[in-house]
Parts: sequence; structure tokens; C-alpha cells
Amino acid sequence: MNRRPRVFSGMQPTGGLHIGNYLGALKSWVELQDDYDCIYCVVDYHAITIEHDPRDLQARIELVARGYLAAGVDPERSALFVQSAVPEHTELAWVFSSLTPIGLLGRMTQFKDKSKDHEDNVNAGLLTYPILQAADIAIYKSEAVPVGEDQQQHLEFARDVVRKFNLRYGGLFPEPRTILSSAPKVLGLDGERKMSKSLGNDIGLEESADEVWRKLAPAKTDPARVRRTDPGDPEKCNLYRYHRCFSSEQTLQWAAAGCRSAGIGCLDCKRKLHQHMEEQLAPLRERLLDLQAHPDRVREILAAGAARLRPIAQQTMAEVRDRLGIPRWPTT
Ligand code: TYM
Repeated sequence: MNRRPRVFSGMQPTGGLHIGNYLGALKSWVELQDDYDCIYCVVDYHAITIEHDPRDLQARIELVARGYLAAGVDPERSALFVQSAVPEHTELAWVFSSLTPIGLLGRMTQFKDKSKDHEDNVNAGLLTYPILQAADIAIYKSEAVPVGEDQQQHLEFARDVVRKFNLRYGGLFPEPRTILSSAPKVLGLDGERKMSKSLGNDIGLEESADEVWRKLAPAKTDPARVRRTDPGDPEKCNLYRYHRCFSSEQTLQWAAAGCRSAGIGCLDCKRKLHQHMEEQLAPLRERLLDLQAHPDRVREILAAGAARLRPIAQQTMAEVRDRLGIPRWPTT
């Protein structure tokens, strides 16, 4: 039987998801379910590479899982699970670490950024982070990985390490390709840096319509539009980029023409954007609340996902051990 090509992706449970996660990755995860065998993971072991509070990790894991489901990941078609429930990820990561030159890890942009942001905690896990990411993907022999632009370097690394494994021990893993969405880099409300929870420039998926409006209303637009009567350039406006993700072609034309002619003010444009955002985000938010009221449902889905995936991961590890010359040692 021809199996559908396999997709794998994951997000860290570092807090609630934001519209950058949604537009950059999650939306395409949902679409890919039609054509791929999809595996979506909450990568909790990755999240401990920065300091965290053990008392709320489980809650954050479940929050992210609810985000996947609310956005439209369908547990009937896709497997949803938590990384630490399948320990073979970390086992394969150890094997891959023996194929990885340290210098390569030190050159990763994300490592350099995070080392700067967490100067007092530059730990080995932060350095070897991409190795575990490569193992996440390879343990299921995944062929494609939908992510935002910031993960491209990590995927290049993943291709590199599986290529090395295949060369040294015989072809076992496909080289996973990157799938970028149509909004691979969503800027934050500051219009300068990538949207990110830690920078505080984000719009969270769980935020209410009022909260979203309180963030949109003062957000930066084209700096040329100081007064209501100043014409602007939509291409220089960060919120016009949001319009592109949420609004209809007709609204886009209205916003662009009104901005260039100063026929509309930025606040008019923001109100329209808010309205279109609500059309997509309000139902999602409702589903989030409904799932929050049924925590057992989410836990069952995660458990079923892990139960389906663990045998696949164990099979891959058995093949890896064979290739490495590590026998199956009896344990009794
Ligand atoms: P994480 O948790 O930082 O982000 C999750 C996903 O959201 C995308 N993303 C964005 N896309 C566009 N604009 C933004 N502002 C934005 N912010 C976040 C990210 O590109 C990502 O796709 N290392 C990964 C997690 C991971 C993983 C994996 C991913 C672990 N193992 C295996 C794929 C495959 C990460 O930190 O994502």
C-alpha cells in the first residue's frame, strides 16, 4: 500500500501561541492534513533549555495542544503528542550528536541569539538543541517539515546530519524538506522584530477581541502618516501586512488606495483589520475555551497520539542500533 508522505512539526510550550505561530506554521499544518500523514508535537524537552517553572510546564504543554486543535488540527487524521512521551527522540539525538561537529552548532543563529538573551544560562542543551530537533523529524522518517522562516537553518542542519548518518551507516532517513507558509516571517506590533512572546510584541490567540484592539489601536503604521491628512505607503506599513493575511482582496484595495490618498486614516484601516481578524480568530478562540473546559479530552488525544507513534519510533531506533552495530542486549 502506498503510504502518504510524512510531515512532522512542533512548537515549544513556552507560553500561549500567537498569530506569528498561527500564520507562519499552524495554518499550513491544518491544510497539509489533506495530503500528508501529519505528526504534530509539543516539544517540551526543547523548552527546558531556557529556565522554566516546573509547576506550570504541564499547563503550558496543554495550552499549546489546545492551540493546535482549535486551529483545526484533526486528531482523527493527524497524530498529536508530547515529545517526552516518546523517549526515542532523545535516544536518537544522542546518536546524531556523535555525528555533529561542535563548531557547526556554535554557528546557529538561534543559539547565538538565545545565548545573548540568556547570558547567565548558556547550557549544553541550548547548543545541542538542533540535534534533538533533527531527531524529532528523523525518528518518524519524515519527509517534510512546515515551519516559519526562523527554523530554516535548523532544517538545513537536520538534512546535514541525516545525510551524514546515511553516508556512514547506509541510507535510512529521507532528507526532510522545508515547507514555508505564505507568511513565513510575521513581524511583531513594533513592526521591527519577529513576533515573539518573549519580546512582548505579540497578539496571542487566546486574547479577547478587546485585548486585540487595545494592541492594534496604538500599533505602528507607515511613519510618514503623522497626521490624518498625510498620505502613506501601504508597503511601508506593518499592519498592511497583517491585512494581507486576514482581509479580502477588496479590503486590501480599499486600504491601499485610502492610505495612498489619505482618504482613510490609520485608525479606520485598523478597525477594518480588527474586524477581519475577528472573523478568523473569534471561532478559534471559542474552540480554545471549549477545549479548556474539557481537559480530559485533550489529554486523551495526546495519549492516543503517543501510543500510535511510539512503535514507529521504536522500530526506527531498532534499525539505527543495527546499523551502529549495537546488539539487542537481553535485560533479564
Ligand atoms: P517555536 O516554538 O519557536 O515556533 C513554532 C513555529 O512557529 C513559527 N513562528 C513564526 N512564523 C512566522 N512568524 C513568526 N513571528 C513566528 N514565530 C514563530 C516557527 O518558525 C515554528 O515553525 N525549534 C522549533 C520547534 C521544534 C521543531 C522540531 C519544529 C522542535 N523540533 C521539529 C519542526 C520540526 C521552535 O522553536 O519553534
